[in-house]
Amino acid sequence: MSQTLAIIKPDAVGSGKAGKILAHLEGAGFSVRALKLLSLSAEQAGAFYAVHEGRPFYEELVEFMTSGPVIPMVLEADDAVPLLRETIGATDPAEAAEGTVRKLYAESKGRNAIHASDSDENAANEIGFFFSDHERLGIG
Ligand code: RTP
Ligand code: MG
Repeated sequence: MSQTLAIIKPDAVGSGKAGKILAHLEGAGFSVRALKLLSLSAEQAGAFYAVHEGRPFYEELVEFMTSGPVIPMVLEADDAVPLLRETIGATDPAEAAEGTVRKLYAESKGRNAIHASDSDENAANEIGFFFSDHERLGIG
């Protein structure tokens, strides 16, 4: 088993889709090992997406991620990182496969309902960004 980080983004939390998305993730085979609701400051959102600093969508991304509460969670499954990327679908919902979270629940490429870590290394860093060890169940 391995773990990854998902964040239900402000568009989905604000429009009342968080419960359906959580059910979808559990239905895809993930166990929730940590979860919280919080608001990100601009500094926190900027740091979380620092890899995109300088790209044309960066400021819009930080503004969006601070526009309302988010729900970060640690998800566990076999090969959790690739399984979650497959489960959420392409960044742009117009390009996401049928049945994926983004196809079902995202509004646009910018307001796309959910984040997922893109490597085991980034998953470990992103889990540490939101959760201390004692807030997380299961493997480290
Ligand atoms: P995420 O990190 O949120 O899981 O999304 P991702 O891997 O599918 O996409 P990434 O390339 O990491 O981009 C991060 C987020 O930036 C926003 N974005 N907007 N308007 C645009 O062209 C654009 N490109 C990226 C999206 O919200 C994307 O999820
Ligand atoms: Mg990404």
